[in-house]
Amino acid sequence: MENRIPVIMDCDPGHDDAIGLLLANASEKIDVLAVTTCGGNQTVEKTTYNAQRVCTLLDMNVPIGKGAARPLTEVPMNAPSVHGKSGLDGPALPEPAYPISDLSAIELMAQTIRSADRPVTIVSTGPMTNTAGFLLAHPELKHKVAQVSMMGGGIGHGNWTPAAEFNILADPEAADMVFRSGVPILMAGLDVTEQALIYRQDIDRIRALGNHVASVVADWIEFFFEFHRQRGYAGAPLHDPVATAALIAPELFQMRELYVQIETQGEFCRGATVGDVNGSTGNAPNARCIMGLDRQGFVDLLCSAVQTYGR
Ligand code: BDR
Ligand code: CA
Repeated sequence: MENRIPVIMDCDPGHDDAIGLLLANASEKIDVLAVTTCGGNQTVEKTTYNAQRVCTLLDMNVPIGKGAARPLTEVPMNAPSVHGKSGLDGPALPEPAYPISDLSAIELMAQTIRSADRPVTIVSTGPMTNTAGFLLAHPELKHKVAQVSMMGGGIGHGNWTPAAEFNILADPEAADMVFRSGVPILMAGLDVTEQALIYRQDIDRIRALGNHVASVVADWIEFFFEFHRQRGYAGAPLHDPVATAALIAPELFQMRELYVQIETQGEFCRGATVGDVNGSTGNAPNARCIMGLDRQGFVDLLCSAVQTYGR
């Protein structure tokens, strides 16, 4: 475990979140210390239940901390059009074998980070409510956060509005706090995640791996693809796994250091991630923004993760 990257997976599963959990759990380079949940794709009740079921499927026995039911200031925003009524519609999943921790997401983050022997990376693939809450409640532990590797935003564009991506729009105040916190940020925005496309032949390749996880992952991607196919995508954009894949195999990704600010006001642009691409603010970069990837390498990594579950 010594050379592994210790991580907390903060997520709102969610099809692509679930596949991010798979990548992390299967990787020899990562040590998952805890899973924390937030409201986002569905209510926090549903995403927590989903996290428990996904961890059970993946044989991933780590503490699961339930997050807050609401974003910092606004009313909750969910995405049933993308992930279904359960937040993880599609294939049947096992009932939870692992209980929820007595600790809230924020307190589980604190306990995990406090007791870790080295700085911990938070992988954030939902609204950033928990991470912001943790940094607010436990400033004494900030130096023990190695980085926040997050899926959210987009330097070029949004997906929920023309300017804003879902995870940031669902809690812009939280994202703003994290981006201003001084903690290093690795940002997998739509710029890269909409290139992380899984095509029909890739789904077939995953299914053909033939184990019990392979068929579920293939079904998840089919479900996720259907929403995107109707909107003109040639494949399913696997947003959230990019935040984990970039830790496991950074050589697959092209990154650019930028100063990124979160728009919390604005009539049209609330939730936008505004990247200082021409250096006009004069501020030093606060984020490494992932702008491109080796798609085939990403698919190969996903297949290797599925393969760890047997023939
Ligand atoms: C993000 O929103 C959710 O639907 C996905 O899980 C991903 O985290 C993409 O905008
Ligand atoms: Ca997500």
